[in-house]
Amino acid sequence: MSTPAVTTRPIAFSGYHQPKDRPVEELTAQVGPGTPCGEYMRRFWHPFLLSEQLSHRPKVVRVLGEDLVLYRDLSGDLGLVHKHCAHRGASLEFGIIAEHGIRCCYHGWLFANDGTILETPGEPPASPIKERFCQGAYPVIEHEGVIFTYMGPPHLKPAFPMMDAMLMPNNRMKPYLIHSPCNWQQVSENSMDPFHVAFLHTRVSGPQFSEVFAELPIIDYHETELGFFYTNARRVGEFIWIRMHDHLLPNFSQNGAIFENVSKVRYFGRPGLTRWVTPVDDHNTYVIAWRHFNDRDDPLHQGRPENNGVGKTDFYGQSGDDPYEVRQDSPGDWDAWCSLGKVTSHEREHLGTTDRGVAFLRRRIKRAIEDLQRGIEPVKPDPVPGLGIATAGGDTILRIPKGEGDDRELILKTSQAVAAAYVKTQHLPDEERRQAITDMLAPLNTADPGQINPDHGKIFEFKTVA
Ligand code: FES
Ligand SMILES: [Fe+2]
Repeated sequence: MSTPAVTTRPIAFSGYHQPKDRPVEELTAQVGPGTPCGEYMRRFWHPFLLSEQLSHRPKVVRVLGEDLVLYRDLSGDLGLVHKHCAHRGASLEFGIIAEHGIRCCYHGWLFANDGTILETPGEPPASPIKERFCQGAYPVIEHEGVIFTYMGPPHLKPAFPMMDAMLMPNNRMKPYLIHSPCNWQQVSENSMDPFHVAFLHTRVSGPQFSEVFAELPIIDYHETELGFFYTNARRVGEFIWIRMHDHLLPNFSQNGAIFENVSKVRYFGRPGLTRWVTPVDDHNTYVIAWRHFNDRDDPLHQGRPENNGVGKTDFYGQSGDDPYEVRQDSPGDWDAWCSLGKVTSHEREHLGTTDRGVAFLRRRIKRAIEDLQRGIEPVKPDPVPGLGIATAGGDTILRIPKGEGDDRELILKTSQAVAAAYVKTQHLPDEERRQAITDMLAPLNTADPGQINPDHGKIFEFKTVA
């Protein structure tokens, strides 16, 4: 006789029975030296400071759990060295900046920007001590007001991650940096969770950006060698609006226009921001990004370049600066990701269908860390000189009125056509790419409800690969 299946129902008022601990997913949360994720993160360039934060004095910074000192020497070059002097450990934040390098205050040792010891003035002239070791130092690149470092093995240093969006013509880039007192993952995962936009930013506490975000999007994820891009598609009246998002491993993302009301057809809009999520340590994170300002990608002209900088950006909910009551009434991204706790406990979550993107991302990062533990290096972005790394972030809007058939199917097919056009043109420079995308997608616009020009069936052969 078979035993009847036992169904366990959740118990109401079951706080007593719920687990109270919050185990941390150590593999992906810990970024310090020697940790698996820390080693993985040390294979990429990361931004860590805005140029405007550096004065003529040395500055203490913390990146991937290491205490460092950044300075601009008198010749204008930047140096980034371990905080404690290799001699007896005095902090180089009290160092004297030299023409080339920095001199420790305690016994006057002079270090070059690459950490080699140039002078040990108290030692006998013939002393070989300065040839025996170096001060720890990391390479630094300053670009458009943002300072980046690479903290991995020198022989594996990748090219600077020049994205195509950073090379857009007629574009003004304004950087911002905002601190979050929590682990990097929960900040980074926000960009792979497009469903929160309909709830957090629109339905739950009223529109924080625009009413058009209230519609639940149709999402299609595409996996690439470097990470993901996904289409985020909605019906808005007679338009189908496709927002493209990039998420390159481990911590880079771009999305569409920050301000958009979907009122006219447009093609290959470019991202409103180009963003990294840099771990300061296991419990602190910086969002460091450039907001882009140009006529093409801020169609509503609501962007405010002057409101971007240290601790601030020009769109809602990115910092904890508003009064607590205001943030309780209309919480933003910063409130949501910080409120997950210092470090999210994956074990205590209950992922649903809206969390596919987060699950994809976690799986890829975990796999990359485990590969590295087995000696397999991660794939790193390899920018094409003059063109950068091809990305997808930005908006395309097509006029395709709703018909009798399944509108969700129509929206999905349209978004796949847009994804195909983006992928097929990614070898082209910006203007040529936009023209080619326009040529491919313009015939999809139609006055006939629910119809797409059948001549363009070829475009729809593009398959979702995630
Ligand atoms: S501690 Fe730096 S020179 Fe002695
Ligand atoms: Fe958000």
